[in-house]
Amino acid sequence: MTTGTATPVATKAAAAPRRHVLDLDDFDKAEIESVLNSANAMREVLGRDIKKVPALRGKVVLTVFLEASTRTRVSFEQAGKILSADVINISGSGTSAEKGESLLNTALTLQAMHADLIIIRSPQSGAPYFLARNLDSVSVINAGDGTHAHPTQALLDLMTMRRHIGDLAGAKVVIIGDVLHSRVARSNIYGLAAVGADVVLSGPPTMMPLEMLRGRSEHFPVSVTVQPDLDKAIEDADVVMALRIQKERAAGGLLPSMREYTRRWQITEARLARAKPGALVMHPGPMNEGIEISSSIAHGPGAQIEEQVTNGVAIRMALLYQTLAGAGGVEL
Ligand code: CP
Repeated sequence: MTTGTATPVATKAAAAPRRHVLDLDDFDKAEIESVLNSANAMREVLGRDIKKVPALRGKVVLTVFLEASTRTRVSFEQAGKILSADVINISGSGTSAEKGESLLNTALTLQAMHADLIIIRSPQSGAPYFLARNLDSVSVINAGDGTHAHPTQALLDLMTMRRHIGDLAGAKVVIIGDVLHSRVARSNIYGLAAVGADVVLSGPPTMMPLEMLRGRSEHFPVSVTVQPDLDKAIEDADVVMALRIQKERAAGGLLPSMREYTRRWQITEARLARAKPGALVMHPGPMNEGIEISSSIAHGPGAQIEEQVTNGVAIRMALLYQTLAGAGGVEL
């Protein structure tokens, strides 16, 4: 049996001196690899019988979730507790926000209590940036803001791909669905571009981020292409990633109908047969099984969906450590 504190991991988890994690557009390949290496060491801790190390003892971590979440909220809380931080969870209801207190005044109040880190999920795009600009002594991690960014999801996706494929330079990753409104897709595009993967976007033309691609010269140094025909897009793919279709978009006129979406863009066994043998199937969750992904694929041999969740805990442990403990590495 291993113990939580007595068995050091052989690998030192490298740590970058980054105070905030807001999106991946300012991460280069070296920094992404540093986080993934650190997360691999953290995954070893997660696999122990006693999942506890003292790395962040005495640090106070606040999770502020103003939008629904299962995976991100629970994994951040679990990550903080494994690293021995004191984790306090705050939701939209039951706080003075209900009495009209602004997000800034709420955050300044939490800073005055000597919090070390605020992890925020917000329906407002840009909310984590606003906090990072206005807080002096607190780190901020973006746990998903509006339709803008979800950097920790993209890092866990990169970790999952790298554990199976190795170097992702030249790997073909197909992202399918409502890319335009997907913070997951957006952060993944930045991260995949940084590591040199080839990204193909597929889905209804009304849901493709064409404006974003037009201005990509600086931020998209590799090929990011749009291929609405999924049968063509999926040819020889190494990774096939479905996005959650947001059903309200059908009512908003961006989708012909859910039935039409399913017919043209659902990942099915016939379509997956066109990808490389052993292609990874990924989904950030929560899934609409039977809409963007068939049940047999969602639970089939290529599906990495539960591994993505496990890697999510490891990535969040790595980011908590790197933002709170600073550079220099840690013996776990
Ligand atoms: N992928 C993701 O962000 O899931 P949750 O909304 O459950 O956190």
